[in-house]
Amino acid sequence: MAPATGGGMLAPVERWRTIIEPFRIKSVEPIRLTSVEERQGKLEEAGYNLFNLHAADVLIDLLTDSGTGAMSAEQWAGIQRGDESYAGSPSWYRFLEAVTELFPFRHVIPTHQGRAAEKILFTVIGGPGKVIPSNTHFDTTRANVEFSGAEAIDCVIPEGRQPSVIHPFKGNMDTDALDAVIRERGAENVPVVFVTVTNNSGGGQPVSLANLRAVREVCDRYGLPLFLDACRFAENAWFIKEREDGCADASIADIVREMASLADGMTMSGKKDALSNIGGWLAMNSDGWAEQCRNLLILTEGFPTYGGLAGRDLEAMAQGLREVIDEDYLRYRIRSTAYLGEALVEAGVPCVQPIGGHAVYIDAAGLLPHIPALEYPGQALACALYREGGIRGCEIGTVMFGQHPDGSETPASMELVRLAIPRRVYTQSHVDYVIEVIRWVAERASALRGMRIVQQPASLRHFTARFEPL
Ligand SMILES: Cc1ncc(COP(=O)(O)O)c(C=O)c1O
Repeated sequence: MAPATGGGMLAPVERWRTIIEPFRIKSVEPIRLTSVEERQGKLEEAGYNLFNLHAADVLIDLLTDSGTGAMSAEQWAGIQRGDESYAGSPSWYRFLEAVTELFPFRHVIPTHQGRAAEKILFTVIGGPGKVIPSNTHFDTTRANVEFSGAEAIDCVIPEGRQPSVIHPFKGNMDTDALDAVIRERGAENVPVVFVTVTNNSGGGQPVSLANLRAVREVCDRYGLPLFLDACRFAENAWFIKEREDGCADASIADIVREMASLADGMTMSGKKDALSNIGGWLAMNSDGWAEQCRNLLILTEGFPTYGGLAGRDLEAMAQGLREVIDEDYLRYRIRSTAYLGEALVEAGVPCVQPIGGHAVYIDAAGLLPHIPALEYPGQALACALYREGGIRGCEIGTVMFGQHPDGSETPASMELVRLAIPRRVYTQSHVDYVIEVIRWVAERASALRGMRIVQQPASLRHFTARFEPL
């Protein structure tokens, strides 16, 4: 690729247009190549639910960026260092230091993953009659809120619901809508306000510092605590650095600390921006809530200095937290996701724009206008990508969000197929292959048919439902 203008004194990233993977590969995992016929058989066996596939039958696995990243040599070294003492392990203290360096909350409660933190928190503060507003609740967050008997309400800005509308911070909370929910339902019924950074279900879109400050102001007006669902905090901070006025010269760590300073607590899945394969935590300033949460933690996860994790997992997260705020890593991470998205947009495939941090979201409703929402266009597209190219994506639409606790079903606000990019796993040629397959499927989109559900559980149906093509 042609060099950009500039002399030999510039750092590589400034001199050359190509943003390379800022790592070498030391250990490889083979990928098994399969045929279309073989994959069609696997789809039928799986009830057309890509969660039911054997991962060994997938060529490029973009189901999730959660827990699927490659660890660094230093993280593997940490795994060796892991101390498995039941209480007060040195690994716990290294983890605690790494967390509080970025998120200086008074209490840190380790959990085995993000949803365990959610379950504990909402068991303590949720319950019937309670309302939890967020920009957009992730599916496990919503499910845990609802399981407690409380109601989960999404208040993202209107731009955040329109796939093709460009906005630098499409994950922002609509603070007027938030204010209205609090007034209508009564502040006493709102135990906490949540902001998800970046906004996964809304397209991996960032939230600005200005918006977090505005949400903070609303919370202060009513005396309410603000929590971050901080799974992708570093990616969010990178977008702030790139896009928000006055932030270009701030370090990622300082931006993260600023985000944390506006909140009273957080839930975290370490499987994302702690660059680890398992782990999470709940953190907060409230002594009262922390005591109740720790008591529940002991009941369901483990002692408060390991919380459902091995000491080695705590080490992996501690090291991951240091690596994830590296600017070379974040530049490559965000740029490589945009590379996939921009190529699809250029090929005329409708995608949520601008391209988010951890994933590209194809607008299945836009690509398959002939398939109604209740015939699951996202599921049909996800199955086609697997059949044709062995690519596993994830429906984020009516299958995931259309089912309600009373058994009714309504179309979701968007019909998306998410292609989530595991961290530090795939190279540019893998991504070029993905682009080629999707272009091929998109050119034949009018031939795709919808699906019907033949079996489903009462909640979180996307994980286990079985489908048939119509
Ligand atoms: C925004 C968000 N919140 C919470 C979770 C739940 O985390 P975990 O999968 O570790 O339970 C996820 C997982 O994908 C997520 O993306």
